[in-house]
Amino acid sequence: MDSLHGSALLAADRRLRGDPITGERYFSRDFAEQERRHVFRRVWHIAGISADLEDFGDYVVHSLGHESVLVVRQKGGGVRAFHNVCPHRGNRLVWGDVGGGDGFTCAYHSWKFSTDGLLVDMQDPEDFADGPLCGTLRLKELPAAEWHGFVWFNLDPNAPTLAEWLGPIKQELDRYELDGLVRTAYQRIELACNWKLVRDNFNESYHLPTIHPQLGGFFDEDYKNTEFALFDGGHNLMVMQGVTTSRKEPYVDRVSTMLRDVLVRWDYDPAEFEGRAREARTAVQKRMRELGPSRGRKFYARLADRQLTDAHHFTLFPNVTFTMHPDRFLMLRAEPHPTDPEKCYFDHWAFHRPEPGGAALPEAEHEKFRYGERPISPVFDQDMSVMMAQQQGVRSSGFDHARLSRQEARIQRFHEIITDYIEGRI
Ligand code: FES
Ligand SMILES: [Fe+2]
Repeated sequence: MDSLHGSALLAADRRLRGDPITGERYFSRDFAEQERRHVFRRVWHIAGISADLEDFGDYVVHSLGHESVLVVRQKGGGVRAFHNVCPHRGNRLVWGDVGGGDGFTCAYHSWKFSTDGLLVDMQDPEDFADGPLCGTLRLKELPAAEWHGFVWFNLDPNAPTLAEWLGPIKQELDRYELDGLVRTAYQRIELACNWKLVRDNFNESYHLPTIHPQLGGFFDEDYKNTEFALFDGGHNLMVMQGVTTSRKEPYVDRVSTMLRDVLVRWDYDPAEFEGRAREARTAVQKRMRELGPSRGRKFYARLADRQLTDAHHFTLFPNVTFTMHPDRFLMLRAEPHPTDPEKCYFDHWAFHRPEPGGAALPEAEHEKFRYGERPISPVFDQDMSVMMAQQQGVRSSGFDHARLSRQEARIQRFHEIITDYIEGRI
């Protein structure tokens, strides 16, 4: 699939109903509760990365709203997911993000569970009328999966498999080689806005020339040159041409710092591209094909030309984006706050491939902070500031509903799929 199917967008476009996207969706407690029940309990979630589960008994914990889930490496290599709750009287079993060992011991009355979730030890077993519980009682298990260096879980015991849920978008993502990438940024930022305002922002590129004008030095941000595809189930893909420039002043055909770095990396003299920098994209694609295998990147052969240079922005319904480049990618996620629909958590994880023979990349520590306490990067700081300004606006009685351009169809589709889940059509 070397060119994207504009037809996929058109087909989806015809399916759009045009439901009004009103302000209540972003602050109503009732609506947030419906999402919790009907959306977040039915989709696949990322719990963490496989690199944190190298050895038998290693686990990651992910808390989502009121739920907390353990994903544990099993003997023989697979992973299993369990509710992080002690079945005795409901104590949270494990605190912290990651750990390892031969099981889990509840801090309240010391019930002990093995790594496969079975109760293996307790005090005063003879005192339980229902007994014996040891060897029979288990932590409540959930569907789990491992794919592309991530471990996943689903809160719905009857969920389709991760592969079924991903559908055709999996095929596109499978072309990338993600083994051996190192998580170099690992941040969770609390934002004063509804989680969907984060998703709306990442579901359109209309804001690039206005909020991130500096990206014109590396991307052709014009929607007419950008490809969009909407898939069944709510996932979508946007492909924006990179290693080029905007067609607009002041960026057109000028070599920016970002572009210069890529040209140097692929053995070009950036000066040669001054005044014709839009030719860098195909020149770099050609050089990546020629030199990639000798630089430890045989997998480039699996990628389409566009995947070598262009930002492939995969949105997995409802709340995750993978922004893919051949040797690095971002995982961006928004999760609702457990109790306040006007707050959310924004996860920003970056992954990079170390150079063969080069210095090891340090694994990032988990940083958790509130917006404003420290910057992430100019682009994300620009994004987050508008998301929170929008929260103020959608709260206003002066806001009726969003008025979307066709290039913002992914936002319309996102909201309609949420409504479909809530109203039982999916
Ligand atoms: S609540 Fe866990 S052992 Fe009692
Ligand atoms: Fe943005």
